[in-house]
Amino acid sequence: MRQKLLSEGASELSYEIREIAKKANKLASLGLNITWENIGDPIQKHHRMPAWIKEIIARLVAEDDTYSYCPSKGILQTREFLAARTNALGGAQITAEDICFFNGLGDAIAKVYQYILPTSRVIGPSPAYSTHSSAEGAHANHNPLTYVLDPGNKWYPDLDDLYQKVKYNPSIIGILIINPDNPTGMVYPLEVLKRIVSIAREFGLFLIADEIYVNITYNGVRAYSLAEVIEDVPGISMKGISKELPWPGSRCGWMEYYNRDKDEDFNRFCEALDNAKMIEVCSTKLPQLAIPEILGDSRYQAYRTDINARIGKRSRIVSEILGGVPQLTFNETNGAFYNTIIFRDGVLKAGQTLKITNKEIRTLVEKWTEGDIPLDKRFVYYLLGAKGICVVPISSFCSDLSGFRVTLLEEDEKILRETFTAIRDGVTEYVRGG
Ligand SMILES: Cc1ncc(COP(=O)(O)O)c(C=O)c1O
Repeated sequence: MRQKLLSEGASELSYEIREIAKKANKLASLGLNITWENIGDPIQKHHRMPAWIKEIIARLVAEDDTYSYCPSKGILQTREFLAARTNALGGAQITAEDICFFNGLGDAIAKVYQYILPTSRVIGPSPAYSTHSSAEGAHANHNPLTYVLDPGNKWYPDLDDLYQKVKYNPSIIGILIINPDNPTGMVYPLEVLKRIVSIAREFGLFLIADEIYVNITYNGVRAYSLAEVIEDVPGISMKGISKELPWPGSRCGWMEYYNRDKDEDFNRFCEALDNAKMIEVCSTKLPQLAIPEILGDSRYQAYRTDINARIGKRSRIVSEILGGVPQLTFNETNGAFYNTIIFRDGVLKAGQTLKITNKEIRTLVEKWTEGDIPLDKRFVYYLLGAKGICVVPISSFCSDLSGFRVTLLEEDEKILRETFTAIRDGVTEYVRGG
């Protein structure tokens, strides 16, 4: 090429949640039955949409207007509906103008970092949902900057770590919160959120809160929204319907801008995000039409409460099976539908294996685990080859820890128990096989 083609940041782009699926599919083609624990898609894990939601969508599909473009920022009535819901929380007040729709929150995440100066950084949690950390790292042509979520303290953020990093790194302009969190299932306590807001205020930062799971909590815990705690600090909340309805295939999410009037730079940033959507014309229309009808339906709350209770029950079943394994650090979750389980220091060693009877599969797993790969990835490949269970190594979530992420989505309790018992057996057999 005449000039260098690829930006340095491109090396930050990786998404193990789907990479591992390629490996699993290879083993599936050799006859292995795979249990998919890699991706947070409730529909793939046997969730059935209720008939009343399908009827709303079917009615919208029958209308000609559904097939046209919509305004760039999204359908006005839907944005008004969402603004009213946020305003009812009693915190930051917004109008429809402070909301912009995207093609899934993934699209919003890609855009939010793209228009920040490469030398200005957003610090995010570690372990990190890799769509955020990859996009932030790619914008800066650098490794992501992270604050520690502590598995020894219920996965709560280490606020001293965050404070010190913000204080001594003047390039940090924003703090990312994922609440409830993917991959840990932790819900930020109110006091922690307030402290993060005060750090942002002290250093003149803005906040980004990915709140795609904000209405998915259980075990008596509720998540506080950014709007409720942000007071006068500029911030962006990111929300969507992929997990909550759940309708991941709709590719529909939105940003809510808080306190644009408090900082002119932040206001211009929000305008740039709106303009970035404008040059693409608009986002998916059908789900926007459906949002007020579904979320505003009197049946919706009971539906969501029921799903949350079922996730909570699964969190306790998983806790019952994996909670007492001595080689693991385990935290029961209160939100989202993942759990991240960590191997205690020194438990994983190179050379550990699981018995794989199928020769072709064994050969492939041996090939994948040759050389210098993270120890948790090695475990994950062996678990896949030996038990057919596809989990994601935590080292691929921008973390120095060794562990793996599972989902709490399996609707069939028998399959759920079998899967997690097999994971427990896999852990104990693997660490014995060193
Ligand atoms: C924290 C978080 N944010 C955003 C997304 C992406 O959501 P969407 O399907 O709307 O792109 C996910 C998906 O897993 C997620 O876990």
